Amino acid sequence: MGSAENGYTAVGSGGRRPCPSRYSLSQAGATGGSVTGVLPDASYEAGSHARMPAVPSTVPWRFYDDLARWWPLVSPPDEYADEAREYARLLGSAIRPVRTVLELGSGGGHNAVHLKRAFDLTLADVSAGMLACSRRLNPECAHVQADMRTMRLAQAFDAVFVHDAIDYMTTEADLASAMATAFVHCRPGGLALFAPDHTAETFQPSTDCGGHDGPDGRGIRYLEWSYDPDPSDTQVTTEYAFIVREADGSVSSVAETHVGGLFPRDTWVRLIQEAGFRVEMVAERTSEERTPRIFFLGHRDPL
Ligand SMILES: C[S@@+](CC[C@H](N)C(=O)[O-])C[C@H]1O[C@@H](n2cnc3c(N)ncnc32)[C@H](O)[C@@H]1O
Repeated sequence: MGSAENGYTAVGSGGRRPCPSRYSLSQAGATGGSVTGVLPDASYEAGSHARMPAVPSTVPWRFYDDLARWWPLVSPPDEYADEAREYARLLGSAIRPVRTVLELGSGGGHNAVHLKRAFDLTLADVSAGMLACSRRLNPECAHVQADMRTMRLAQAFDAVFVHDAIDYMTTEADLASAMATAFVHCRPGGLALFAPDHTAETFQPSTDCGGHDGPDGRGIRYLEWSYDPDPSDTQVTTEYAFIVREADGSVSSVAETHVGGLFPRDTWVRLIQEAGFRVEMVAERTSEERTPRIFFLGHRDPL
């Protein structure tokens, strides 16, 4: 709920962060700077890769575009502390010592603000607005605007982390492309951690609401409604409604639909293997009262 340390006032059901295909409450299946270098057209550790294409200046979601500046009031950074501890534990389980970590789809950097205590982070996201939030919060981290399906940096990392942004991969082809990006940026002996909000086995329709007031008089409230209109495909739908209040008291509202991916565990395991990793499936350790999520670790074998 509310995060008094930040001066925010929370509303909603338990302060869970919003996401396009949110956590299942069912019991089923419980178990600094900027980077400019890109890979040359020739090879880089695991094969040859094309130069990464330019990223459009806008993204197809208002949530991450003109509404991005509201992200810290939608989902405050301190609400990520517990799960970030779990991500740090798993990232540290690689064979090689993990110091450098690349996060794909790092958004406003709300995991990063915790993870940066343990790792040197490079934060990549397709949204300029979300990166701007992250730069304010994490000025000491490197930031790069790129699509996780095509990004190729002239640098490899001890570990790669993909949190809920992976839920925006809606087809097997897109998911495989993101995993290939993780593999080519992962050093031998390192690992990639994929942390989707759901797999097909655990998804349940859900409704949630939340939002916070900032110290400057701004405030936002949202309603989030997730469901699976066609269980035979790999997509789920989340309808969002946002009501925003500016510091001058003016109020406006926005509604938009997000489409997320939903894949069975077998698909995750197969695609991570096909990317070149050895796969480990782990149930998260959490003190929250909900079904633990299933995470996928891709271990890149040492040379
Ligand atoms: C829910 S937000 C992530 C928030 C993040 N976990 C944080 O700590 O603030 C989802 C993010 O995925 C990003 N995203 C969606 N598709 C992407 C893609 N193809 N490549 C990179 N980022 C993407 C969006 O721009 C958005 O910032």
